[in-house]
Amino acid sequence: MSDNAISQWPDVDAVEKDLDRLVHTPIRRLSDEILAEYHAWYEANAAGSKATFEEAQRYIPGGVQHNLALNDPWALDIVKAEGAHLWDVDGNRYIDFLQAGGPTVLGSNYAPVREEITQLIADCGPVTGMLHAYEVKLAKLIHDFMPNVQKFRMLGSGTEGVMAAVRAARAYTGKSHVIKVGGAYHGWSDQVVFGLRIPGTGSLEAAGIPAGALQLTQEVAPGDLDELRAKLAANAGNGGTAAVFVEPIGPESGAHLVRHGFNAQVRELCDEFGALLVFDEVVTGFRLGMGGAQGYFGVKPDLTVFGKCVAGGYPAAGGIGGSDEVMNVFAGGLTAAGKRALVGGTLSANPMSCAAGYHTLLEMDRTNAPAIAGRAGDRLRAGLSALIARYDLPYVVYNVGSVVHLHTSGVLHLSIHDPEFFTELGPRKDMLGQMSMAFSAEGVVTLAGSRLYTSMADTDEVIDDALARFDRVFARV
Ligand SMILES: Cc1ncc(COP(=O)(O)O)c(C=O)c1O
Repeated sequence: MSDNAISQWPDVDAVEKDLDRLVHTPIRRLSDEILAEYHAWYEANAAGSKATFEEAQRYIPGGVQHNLALNDPWALDIVKAEGAHLWDVDGNRYIDFLQAGGPTVLGSNYAPVREEITQLIADCGPVTGMLHAYEVKLAKLIHDFMPNVQKFRMLGSGTEGVMAAVRAARAYTGKSHVIKVGGAYHGWSDQVVFGLRIPGTGSLEAAGIPAGALQLTQEVAPGDLDELRAKLAANAGNGGTAAVFVEPIGPESGAHLVRHGFNAQVRELCDEFGALLVFDEVVTGFRLGMGGAQGYFGVKPDLTVFGKCVAGGYPAAGGIGGSDEVMNVFAGGLTAAGKRALVGGTLSANPMSCAAGYHTLLEMDRTNAPAIAGRAGDRLRAGLSALIARYDLPYVVYNVGSVVHLHTSGVLHLSIHDPEFFTELGPRKDMLGQMSMAFSAEGVVTLAGSRLYTSMADTDEVIDDALARFDRVFARV
């Protein structure tokens, strides 16, 4: 198997100390004059995107179909993607560190996979509703890379994978509570829109979700094993805990970083209390190595949730895998015996998504893409760190392979218990939008101004080009 992406686990104590300093330092943002200059850049160079966005606002709520596309002062209308770059309708070229939110570790629009998909569509179209050999090939390949996944159920998104995991855990264990880590994102289904982004925020973002839907969902503070033990113990006499969900590198893809041994300790607690351990590998699955985070940490989850890379950036990317025993709660068909947990959808496991996943994973392994992308992440982090030092900024940067976190305002690390929380929240959140706008105007697209995914297409030249562009922004703070 190819190498994993992580050359070194970050020094979590040092990162936490730096983040603590960041949130207790007044924000260091771009001045209003500089922001006006960036705004003028958009007016002069991105009129085509502006026109698309103005029309989008009439027909699409908020003007974008997904938060990933948010950009100030308006969303960019992208017409071409290839390798490390995106081009907008006005002809501007951007270095792409958004990577569609994570799936394109091979780089955008990777030709060898595209050719396989084109062939498949010519042969049978994207969907027939019948069994296709690619479904089997993908499930077997995932098993080869992640032996803990004995059986795999393909679904339409990471959100669906999480919904299925909650259901399977309850069906299999007969227990009721689910515990997640504060700040973690597990998609937008009713039972997990709880404690998002900033730990301790509970149902703050759960508009439209009846309180009852969240009654059996609990949150523990990141890294707090004592709190996890206490919740598991309290639940034991009260319906029990069906599952503990973790993002294995930490909430929000490591925006709140875990200590290296955390997952193994959660595994022990799950065993002690008879709860299933669910790894949400929607981001980490294959990006950090073909064995995922579970391969890197050497920890066996009972269930693994997939998304993103599992369809290589093509639509309908989601799934769930685990042991025969647990996964058989999903066995469909009239003859299936025992517990029956219903999951699925008209387009689940269509041949196109499965072929895309299969050929993407084969290519990622053959080309050593996770490790190459990881080295690009190392280079980007080292360069950003040098810039932060040069301009004496309080910003914090670290990376877990090809997942690079750049905290400029520290908004995710504000404490809900701090009396200043609501005063600080607005300006620190706004600052991310401002940084993101400046980065894009300088030709670098990021995820919300604070996360940067690298890919195999990010050569040293691309990274150094990006660093020169970040330099122009940081120099003006
Ligand atoms: C860790 C994690 N879990 C689940 C999801 C939800 O996946 P999807 O957007 O495919 O529904 C995401 C999406 O970003 C994610 O990052």
